[in-house]
Amino acid sequence: MNTIAEGIQALKKAKRLVFFTGAGISADSGIPTYRDPLKGLWKKHDPSLLETSKAFRENPALVWGWYLWRREQWGLAQPSCGHLAINRFSEMGFDVSVVTQNIDDLHERAGPQQVVHLHGSLAKPKCFACHRPADLSAKQAAIADDAALLEPPRCPRCNGKLRPDVVWFEEKLPIDIWKKAMALVKSCDVLFSVGTSGIVMPAADIPAIALASGATVIHVNIADVSLGNPNELMLIGRAADMLPHLLSSL
Ligand code: APR
Repeated sequence: MNTIAEGIQALKKAKRLVFFTGAGISADSGIPTYRDPLKGLWKKHDPSLLETSKAFRENPALVWGWYLWRREQWGLAQPSCGHLAINRFSEMGFDVSVVTQNIDDLHERAGPQQVVHLHGSLAKPKCFACHRPADLSAKQAAIADDAALLEPPRCPRCNGKLRPDVVWFEEKLPIDIWKKAMALVKSCDVLFSVGTSGIVMPAADIPAIALASGATVIHVNIADVSLGNPNELMLIGRAADMLPHLLSSL
């Protein structure tokens, strides 16, 4: 039996699906993954050195400029065929949840889904000092094409600097978000692990947790990222091709 046929067999017995997604699914919308080299204004920067509270303390304008630029890239992008296929699974009657490491809103824009953002989201910033969420005016959200440095706006309550509401390196995932994800992962029948390199913890443990809870795990990735468990299937290819292909074979 080929992998697609095995995937279909697992799906025929399944009700609850979790799509655990990473940067690879947004790559099909034209957004570079974390391992792709950056271009243009950000060519000489390493994102892993910008995504820390230390970097924000040392150079808030650079870190704020970086996130505002990425927010704009995502605003211009459209959900990919992979994002849209996930929505089709729920339209077909599966109980679908998305647990994503991505901080973009492409899943939400693909359709009405339950989306758990493990690493936060760029939808709203929060205050670096008092941690309260804040809104951005259109003027504050605008970026200049040729400028990387942008002073972060101030918190309307305490005048602290606003930062993106995302989980930076060396920060812990919010416990309520992790618990919500765990409840979904441990009770699903099939977990799709889509477009993630599986190197950033604790999210990287999610496929192994699903396997230990009795689920079938279907990886969708352009590289082989399987863990060698008999209940795993590896679909090698772009998410935008493989997910619609699986759907059309159901
Ligand atoms: N379709 C499917 N998979 C793809 C595609 C595609 N079109 N393009 C790339 N990939 C795969 C790559 O092979 C790789 O395994 O997507 C993965 C992207 O890996 P990362 O860039 O490491 O993204 P992710 O796993 O989401 O990173 C996790 O790391 O930097 C932190 O907080 C950040 O949430 C991020 C976390």
